[in-house]
Amino acid sequence: MDLEPMGFEKRSSRERFPTDLLARLRDARRVVVLTGAGISAESGIPTFRDALTGLWAQYRAEDLATPEAFERNPALVWSWYRMRRELVVRAEPNPGHRAIARLESRLTRFTLITQNVDGLHRRAGSTDPVELHGSLLRARCSREGTVVDSWEEPKTGPPRCARCQAYLRPDVVWFGETLPEHALRRAREASAACDVFLSVGTSNLVEPAASLPWLAASAGAVVAVVNPSVEGQRSGTRVHHLLGRAGELLPALLAAGWPEEPNSPT
Ligand code: APR
Repeated sequence: MDLEPMGFEKRSSRERFPTDLLARLRDARRVVVLTGAGISAESGIPTFRDALTGLWAQYRAEDLATPEAFERNPALVWSWYRMRRELVVRAEPNPGHRAIARLESRLTRFTLITQNVDGLHRRAGSTDPVELHGSLLRARCSREGTVVDSWEEPKTGPPRCARCQAYLRPDVVWFGETLPEHALRRAREASAACDVFLSVGTSNLVEPAASLPWLAASAGAVVAVVNPSVEGQRSGTRVHHLLGRAGELLPALLAAGWPEEPNSPT
């Protein structure tokens, strides 16, 4: 099917979703969900660029999110990430995050791949997301790479590694850095082996995540794109475009796919 946005406002419950998608979802041996900034929009998490407001408006991404920036001014970079970490800790997972966690509990083989660094999927109950871009909630030694998920916050500047005293840096992927090899391998393997691939809240522009739905489709999976906008999204015979917000569509998709299961309020 070519790009054919569904007329959601005119349909209801099971009719809202293509029947072959619902059937494939229920019978799937393996499902992959890929998420991006859009799924956290309903939790009030600004994207990297949207967070460049107020005091931060004077900076560019290269001043705050590159290894060179950290070398030049570790205190500035650390305080940017500290501010963003405080934001995500105050936010709550939304019905979209929770629907993905429920989907995982209904399927035997399930892989969640996220480009988000906000940790909201884990807080919603997803057990082992592939975090392609790392997490704001972890830090790692800038010299040895040891990862930690708690540390004492100094008054100024980044904390130090307990072992070697080098600075800790955010455990996220900066511009110009490669993605964690293990995460990327898991993401590719799962995508190539799934029957259903849901791409949720991502503009599908940033590689290598952008290729994953097409890797899945070319291996025979049905792809569904959940996004209020079709801008920039590729279309194809095995791609369904579900136009709308993740927090509304994902719980509805679960309810339509498993009408006999209790669909607890989100
Ligand atoms: N539900 C679903 N999708 C939504 C919603 C929503 N409520 N709100 C917005 N969207 C969609 C937008 O239409 C857009 O297509 O989410 C997408 C967000 O796109 P981007 O901001 O480009 O985010 P993402 O695709 O995650 O970007 C990938 O790029 O900036 C870097 O490292 C950053 O991880 C990020 C990566």
